[in-house]
Amino acid sequence: MRATVFVSGVLPGDATARLAEDFDVVQADDGVRSSAFVECASRVRAIVALLTDRIDEDLLARAPNLSVVANVAVGVDNIDLDACAARGVVVTNTPDVLTEATADLAFGLLLAAARRICEGDRLVRAGGWTGWTPTFMLGQPVHGMTLGIVGLGRIGRAMARRARGFGMPVLYHQRERVQEGFERALGATWVPSLDDLCAASDAVTIHVPLTDATRHLFDAPRLARMRPGSVLVNTSRGPIVDEAALAQALAAGRPGAAGLDVFEREPAVAPALLERQDVVLTPHIGSADTATRIAMARIAAENVLRLLAGEPALSPVPARQR
Ligand code: DGY
Repeated sequence: MRATVFVSGVLPGDATARLAEDFDVVQADDGVRSSAFVECASRVRAIVALLTDRIDEDLLARAPNLSVVANVAVGVDNIDLDACAARGVVVTNTPDVLTEATADLAFGLLLAAARRICEGDRLVRAGGWTGWTPTFMLGQPVHGMTLGIVGLGRIGRAMARRARGFGMPVLYHQRERVQEGFERALGATWVPSLDDLCAASDAVTIHVPLTDATRHLFDAPRLARMRPGSVLVNTSRGPIVDEAALAQALAAGRPGAAGLDVFEREPAVAPALLERQDVVLTPHIGSADTATRIAMARIAAENVLRLLAGEPALSPVPARQR
């Protein structure tokens, strides 16, 4: 009998078709809370999950034959890793393929926020532009800014590489310092304290996963450590930044602008942020270029194919990431 694989949404490319060659695929366009999942839960062997799916104990209890959760994302904060480990369910993600796409968007948000690009676009469209003056719509120069990178993992390093092209000194913060040769190659300097990194950077960009330790890592006291007029960029996970505190911090000018692709309660955005001109908001599109999303879907499908054939996964997630 062919194994049942639940695909939680419409995937780009040929990933679902490839799965359908070997398995009975049940595809939903509305995630694991859909009636399609309820109907196949008792027999499902693998779930191709989206970051909007909550894979928790309650769901696992309803899927006793489940052995694989293949997340179409690098972040796995939507999955209870301990509960999966306790039931012998292997979790996989899609690292590497989205590194450059996410760094592209983070750098774009930095440029847009610092140089007021979206605000200018809104003004022009609204017919509010009355002409050039020397003091009109001044922003912050991006070239030469000191960039503080929180988390020098794959995406953080891709940001460091981009920063070099803009002549930006790069600082980074994470618990452990990377090897010296590596620092030299990236032109990045380790700052042991996150508060010190905030105080020394003209822009701070966040590239850490959401865990218990990083939830509200950027709260009111930390935001108050940022430089007046600086820029905060977040393309990792929304709950790492306290949105209400950020709105207040922006009103106080520290930071002076922000570029956010992720939010605490997606797809909702704190009204206090929506009202502000100094925030650039994008709808969680860090990895959203066509080639990247096709590659992510393929990796998720390949992980399912391998694991259900008794082979090792391409990209298994260790049981405890926190
Ligand atoms: C991820 O993979 O975690 C990204 O947020 C998807 O865009």
